[in-house]
Amino acid sequence: MSSAPGRSGRRIKHALPPVRWPTAAEAARARWFSPGRLGPLATRTRTWVPAMVPWRATDDGLVTPDVIDWYARFAEGRPGVLVVEATGIRDVPSGPLLRIGHDRFIPGLRTLVETVREKSGGQTRLFIQLIDFLRVNRRPDPTKFFTRYLEIGDEIRRRLASALGDGAWVTAPEPDVRARLLQADRALLDAVLTARELESLDFGYRERVWDTHLPHIRELPFVLPGLFAAAARRARTAGFDGVELHYAHAYTMASFLSRLNTRDDGYGGAPEHRVRLPLEALRAVRANAGSHFAVGIRYLGDEVVEGGSDLADAVAFGVRFAAAGVDYLSVSKGGRFEDAKQPKVGEAVYPYTGESGYECMPTVISDERGPFGRNVPLAATIRAAIREAGRETPVVTSGGIFSFEQAEEILRAGEADYVAAARQTLADPDWFRKIELGRGEAIRRCEFTNYCEGLDQHHKQVTCKLWDRDLDPADPDVRLAADGKRRLSAPTWVD
Ligand SMILES: Cc1cc2nc3c(=O)[nH]c(=O)nc-3n(C[C@H](O)[C@H](O)[C@H](O)COP(=O)(O)O)c2cc1C
Ligand code: SF4
Repeated sequence: MSSAPGRSGRRIKHALPPVRWPTAAEAARARWFSPGRLGPLATRTRTWVPAMVPWRATDDGLVTPDVIDWYARFAEGRPGVLVVEATGIRDVPSGPLLRIGHDRFIPGLRTLVETVREKSGGQTRLFIQLIDFLRVNRRPDPTKFFTRYLEIGDEIRRRLASALGDGAWVTAPEPDVRARLLQADRALLDAVLTARELESLDFGYRERVWDTHLPHIRELPFVLPGLFAAAARRARTAGFDGVELHYAHAYTMASFLSRLNTRDDGYGGAPEHRVRLPLEALRAVRANAGSHFAVGIRYLGDEVVEGGSDLADAVAFGVRFAAAGVDYLSVSKGGRFEDAKQPKVGEAVYPYTGESGYECMPTVISDERGPFGRNVPLAATIRAAIREAGRETPVVTSGGIFSFEQAEEILRAGEADYVAAARQTLADPDWFRKIELGRGEAIRRCEFTNYCEGLDQHHKQVTCKLWDRDLDPADPDVRLAADGKRRLSAPTWVD
């Protein structure tokens, strides 16, 4: 079970596979549309919309009418479960990302909950994904980097002196060192700067959970359980059915779980140390959650980066989370910073641009296996290990889910308990309802080419390219994105 980075072999453009949609009677008998249970909660169906950030909150992280519309539209499709986007648990500025780090966020979130209840006829369970993330700076302009950001200490002077064969640099004044580095060619920079300094120059400064020389990073194990627990309490007060702890992709908790985590304070290194803080946060949330509130975890079945955690780690962590009483495990894959592409100057590195990012949101340009249901084996292996350990914890799979038959087969084979679709539901938020009504031929099928993900990358309001096929910008009923060219919501389905 090695962490084989990325796609293997030749890349091929895959056609969308043909689909057969069921009749209403067949859908009514189907596993996907049968009831399920997530700890204390019953769900009407086993259909699931995983978290998707739409970039519609205010710059202060508050719910806006556009946030409400976004979730109202998903609720109209009546999925069994809808997970609200990654929502910041701290009370710090985070751009137009939803936040839940203070009680002032509760009223807006309560409106969101009430809207989803109403639009789904009370048939959709609503969770909110709780996220913590560390600092990621934009890639700097090199002049600013050398004249302002780079710290000039004895070590860098010594390395410059050695690289240039001139001992005078050991005591050179700081402005001279900065000026020399500004003129340096790449070979000299490679010789003088550390790997982290070069990364800060080429990609932008980025914190790691193992930067324990920084007090706020060292203290993460003391502050995060309380922050997650307080956020969960607010979610409960706002009326959510549960919370999903975001332990996946490029963010703080996934990095604690990562094999790359070398903290030496009992929270890094060996797997039982890496899982310690995620377990402590889970327990803190549980202790505050009450008996009718579900607590799930989204985490990685494989990081898909060199030296990162793989399926063997994920199996061990999943068994630990299940034993600690988590109500479900939603298995994702990849989406890490380690292999992300270099951003342009002034932009921040985006963790879905490398091979691990590909695995997180696979497109039709793929290897032989293609993008469809690509992550199912991870969920299946984790689920089997949890059952082997005597637990019934439900497992959710996602990644390239596009059809009824695919979902049915996953459930029939016991590879997962819930089948989630992000982009297909973005393309057509009504698709679950259309299937239930036996109207599958009316479904707008996702093309898996990631126009939506490109918008997410630039923190632009996320929309689907298929919504605009018959767009009339003059239509007064159509709300447009800030650029005036795109619909903000999927077109209404007129049956
Ligand atoms: C625009 C966009 C935003 C996303 N935001 C989140 C997020 O906030 N949290 C998360 O765990 N995953 C996020 N994802 C990943 C999806 O939940 C899902 O795992 C991924 O798209 C693969 O599933 P799919 O093939 O059904 O789209 C996002 C995906 C997209 C396309
Ligand atoms: S923009 Fe493309 S990948 Fe995204 S949901 Fe629409 S069709 Fe699918």
